[in-house]
Formats: sequence, C-alpha cells, structure tokens
Amino acid sequence: GIKKHILVIPGDGIGPEVTTWGKAVLENIAEEYGHEFTFDGALMGHAAIEVTGSPLPDDTLAKAKASDAILFGAIGHIKYDNDPSAKVRPEQGLLKIRKELGLYANLRPIMLFDELLDASSLKPEILKGTDILFFRELTGDVYFGEKKRSEDGNTGSDLMIYHRYEVERIAVKAYEAAMLRSKRLCSVDKANVLETSRLWREVVQEVAKRYPEVETEHMFIDNAAMQLVKNPKKFDVVLTANLFGDILTDEASQIAGSMGMLASASIGDGTGFFEPIHGSAHDIAGQNKANPLASILSVALMLEISFGLTEEAKRITDAIDKTLKAGYRTGDIADAHTDPAKILGTKQMGQKVLQYLKETV
Ligand code: IPM
Ligand code: MN
Repeated sequence: GIKKHILVIPGDGIGPEVTTWGKAVLENIAEEYGHEFTFDGALMGHAAIEVTGSPLPDDTLAKAKASDAILFGAIGHIKYDNDPSAKVRPEQGLLKIRKELGLYANLRPIMLFDELLDASSLKPEILKGTDILFFRELTGDVYFGEKKRSEDGNTGSDLMIYHRYEVERIAVKAYEAAMLRSKRLCSVDKANVLETSRLWREVVQEVAKRYPEVETEHMFIDNAAMQLVKNPKKFDVVLTANLFGDILTDEASQIAGSMGMLASASIGDGTGFFEPIHGSAHDIAGQNKANPLASILSVALMLEISFGLTEEAKRITDAIDKTLKAGYRTGDIADAHTDPAKILGTKQMGQKVLQYLKETV
C-alpha cells in the first residue's frame, strides 16, 4: 500500500455534508487496499472568515502545501451574494489557493451514468454516449486581471489577460489527454472579438502541430454553448479559458443530469485539489438533501490522478453505478420514474455507496 496525507477543506454550505462522504470513501479504500491515508482539516471561505477574518488563513495554505492531495467541499454564502460592496468574500479563498498552489488546469469530466439519462432535461437519445473532458484554465483570465472601480463609483473594470505560457501549458495538458482518448480536441474561444482569444488560438495552433494525430477544432464560445446542448456527442476533449470554462461546464452538468454529479480535479505544479463543481447551495445546507456523489467522484479523480490508483478509482465509480442501477437517487437526480422510497438523503446515499463499495469485488 501507499502512504498519503490528505487535507480536507469542507468549506461552506453543503460542503461539510458532502465531504464527509468523500472522506468516508477514502477511508474505506485505504482499509480495503492496505493504504495508509492520514487526514487533516482546515477552514476556507465564509467558515474561515467567521473564525479568522480571512477566507484563506495562512494555516490553511501551509497545510495545503504540505499535503499530498486536497479534498474540498464548496464555497460561498448568500450574505455576500446580495452585498456587492463586501471587500472580504468567501470566493477569494478559493481563487487564492488555486493561484498559490499553481492549479492552472481544471479537469471536469462529463461522465454519464446511463441510469441518469432521464434525470436530464435534455432528450436521452441526444445524450446517450456523451463523454467529454473539459480542460478549463484556472489561474488566469479576467478572474485574476486587475479589478478597478473609478473614484466616483460609476465605472468598473476587470482586466482580461493571458500570457503565452499560461495558454501553452494547459494546451499541452489537454493534448496529452486527447492522445489517450479519442484524439479529438475542441478549443473554445472568442477570437473574433477578443485579443486574449486571438493569442489563445495562435498558441493552441502551435501546440497542435506537436500532436498531428489529434484532430483539432476551434470554436467560438457562443457557438460552443449552443452545440453542447444540440449535439454533445460531437465533443471529446474541450480546452477553454477560465471564464468560458466556468460557464460552459455548468451548462454541461445538465448533460450528466445534475450539478450534484460533476467532480473536478485542479492540477498544476504541485498538490492536486479535488472538488465538486457545484456551489455551497445554502438553500439546502444542513438539511441532509445534498447529493454526495460529486464529492465521492472527486475522490475517485484524486486516487487516479494524484496517486495513480486506477483500480481503486474504478471501484468507486462501479459502486456508484451499482447504487444508481439499484434505483437509489438523491432529490436532484430523481425523476418521475423514481420509487419515492428510494429517494435518499445525503447520509443515506453516502451509506449506500459505501455498502456497494464493500460488496464490489
Ligand atoms: C467554480 C466556482 C468558482 C469559480 C467560484 C466559487 C469562485 O463557480 O469552481 O466553478 O468561478 O471558479
Ligand atoms: Mn462555477
């Protein structure tokens, strides 16, 4: 077995509820396969502001840098959503840790469980067979460019900026992934309008030359947003910038049935960071309603990507598959055909997955 130290950052809202089950799955895998996983916890977001005044306390960052992988829950609080004047905000914690850890590549797989074809608002025949891997750039773009407000308060600006090396390193990651998949890559930008996108396209075209086996397509973001729901099967690896990727992957989550199903891996220079793509969902926080599957799938990504434990990762997705095949659902993925007795809370869903995890051989 292997020895790893994992930092769990539950964060805000439903974060603590869902990460409980991600962690429980990690413990189960460790026991089953003879690995030694040690855990530590830390604060981030609103939870951290409450205690320390900062959304990313130094202690959390130090622990993050010293760990082998990080499991994160969710971030945000309604209190700030309707208060644009708040200077200290929960989301700053997440953005800062991404930057500090050099997590420039955010991998968001759109994994489709056949059992959930009816949970989507899109037609099953359009969805069936969809398998997309998004590469969202995560430490550049308008997210990190200079933010300004004029003295009279009447003008605001966010600088959209990209450097060549930032585009190149994520393009390389996406092409490497495409080589291991169906060798199709779609780069999404807005090169008909934005200078950052023209740089993006130029760099992607250069990187593409190093991967002649990969079939490259360039698409404008508006068109991509439309094509994604019109014919999602046409996409395989999708490479895009920070803001476009943020929006496009929320859209794509509806292909998988729910935001509650999508996991992500943020990787780069050092420690990997694994989190659901969903937010803190304060409307259902603390009510045992959240879907823990995105957190559990994030753990599968951690095992595979950070620790190279492919078999263990597969075991987790198999257990989820079995849980869904047996008809169990959380509210967000239930549909008209779901047996009401099989609509489970967060805890019961987590327990079901653990049960199938133990039974799967
Ligand atoms: C995400 C989230 C974050 C982002 C927010 C919470 C800052 O929406 O991870 O997709 O925009 O990157
Ligand atoms: Mn988002």
